[in-house]
Amino acid sequence: MNEFKHKGKDKKEFVKYIFNDISRSYDFLNHFLSGGVDIIWRRKFINSLGFSSKDKVLDVATGTGDVALTIKKKFKCEVIGLDISANMLEIAKQKSKKNNFHDIDFIEGDAENLPFDDNTFDKLVISYGFRNLGDFEKGLSEFYRVLKPNGKLGILEFLQPKSSFASKLFKLYFNNILPRVASLFSNSKAYRYLPESVENFFTSSELKDLLIRSNFKEVHVKNLTFEITTIVNAKK
Ligand SMILES: C[S@@+](CC[C@H](N)C(=O)[O-])C[C@H]1O[C@@H](n2cnc3c(N)ncnc32)[C@H](O)[C@@H]1O
Repeated sequence: MNEFKHKGKDKKEFVKYIFNDISRSYDFLNHFLSGGVDIIWRRKFINSLGFSSKDKVLDVATGTGDVALTIKKKFKCEVIGLDISANMLEIAKQKSKKNNFHDIDFIEGDAENLPFDDNTFDKLVISYGFRNLGDFEKGLSEFYRVLKPNGKLGILEFLQPKSSFASKLFKLYFNNILPRVASLFSNSKAYRYLPESVENFFTSSELKDLLIRSNFKEVHVKNLTFEITTIVNAKK
């Protein structure tokens, strides 16, 4: 029995409300609850995409901007971050200013209705954002539309683990430990929503099939840390 909605307009509204609410504790809790391993996952994700300084990059669901800022710092390319939560973007803008980056645009917008022309970006990345969309097919058709031909899509996500060991480990931590610890610092709903959203999300092979049905090619899946998190790469 689900406590939360896992698709459609109600989900989108809830997700927007929850990320606006937890924006101030988001970075601290990410690093604290993962023991800092999330930083390594994001770094591996970024390295999987082969950026160059000439790339025009869109970081969808950029949140507090960690992926966008790391790409900018490392590759000095053109980066835009987009998110539906104004409060998450506010933190991203503060971090950008602190790093003296004056040319990253952080834009409020919806991944399912991107405010860009067709064939605009060389790379589109989405880290722990895709699972939160109200309509996955709509999101992917927008990603496909704004990518240039042969442009690369990178998704970093928590998917449903395949192996029973990973699944047990995942459930123990995400269902029992994480919501209890997180509720001491933040809106507890957000951290009850997280494991439920993973349970209602795809396995890696289901996501691969969806990407292929959405016209993406060269779809590759790489599991990290006992399948706790997964990098999915594809090309337009
Ligand atoms: C778990 S956070 C991930 C933030 C960041 N990418 C990271 O790696 O830490 C998920 C983000 O997705 C954003 N989001 C959810 N649905 C969205 C949508 N339809 N369009 C744009 N952003 C969305 C949320 O506001 C939130 O900032």
